[in-house]
Amino acid sequence: MSAPPPLCSLDGRIGPLAEARISPLDRGFLFGDSVYETMKVLGGHPLFLPAHLARLAASLAGFEIPWPEGLAAEIAALLAATGPFDGSLYVQVTRGAAPQRLHQPGARLTPTRFLLPAAYAFPADPAAAPGLTAITRPDWRWQRCDLKTTALAGSVLGGLAAAHAGADEVLFAGPGGELREGGHTNLFVRHGEVLETHPLGAVVLPGVTRSHLLDLAAGLGLTVVERAPRLADREAWRELFVSGTLTGVRGVVQLDGTPVGDGTVGPWTRRLAAALAARERAAAEEAG
Ligand SMILES: Cc1ncc(COP(=O)(O)O)c(C=O)c1O
Repeated sequence: MSAPPPLCSLDGRIGPLAEARISPLDRGFLFGDSVYETMKVLGGHPLFLPAHLARLAASLAGFEIPWPEGLAAEIAALLAATGPFDGSLYVQVTRGAAPQRLHQPGARLTPTRFLLPAAYAFPADPAAAPGLTAITRPDWRWQRCDLKTTALAGSVLGGLAAAHAGADEVLFAGPGGELREGGHTNLFVRHGEVLETHPLGAVVLPGVTRSHLLDLAAGLGLTVVERAPRLADREAWRELFVSGTLTGVRGVVQLDGTPVGDGTVGPWTRRLAAALAARERAAAEEAG
């Protein structure tokens, strides 16, 4: 499927991305006073739109930014303008542009809305996708990772550390060596005959994919326990995988330079990757 045309929607106006302009006083630009969502798009249909909009509403509420009326219609109008494509739709809402650069938000502003479609190369067969490599780092991010803010300096530093190490992803660990999540993914470990994933709370994003996987795992008869995988137990791990909207389910076969389990993508990872891909296809067909 072809890439979307280079369009975006800024404050409800659809136009060429190259011509879009925001104010330098926009609080998203100045302070990262801004939240976002990334959705997967198949055939021009945004997948799991209600779940993404619900999480966006929670992030906005966390920042006391009002819900931008008309956002859903702006998304629909942009996707009508792009026509069918496979990829992603990025939706960012900032608090808006204030007259002065002050930390305090002050008066209620009109939120800035920026919507950007993009092509993305998804693996043809997610269950057969090759394994990834990852590094661990202490979690140096802020303490409200449940809010999906664009202030992502901690993730950017983690991404740089991963790139310098030649790895695909960074996994953030708490002070006791408990694995929380990746730079842009949630994570699961198969420890014996159960999957472990960090419980929801302030140190992980409530991933849309994560919640589908909890449901799909139950349907496949796999046991999931919401408890933090501990690096101290690493020798007992059989599989490690990360999950995300664009990542899907991807096995991590090497962590900090040494193999995880037998160093190959494991069977539970492949089953869940296939089950998620099937659910995504069904969602796209239903939307079409
Ligand atoms: C820090 C972090 N954790 C987890 C995820 C996965 O969330 P989702 O499955 O909703 O894409 C993301 C996605 O961007 C993320 O940035």
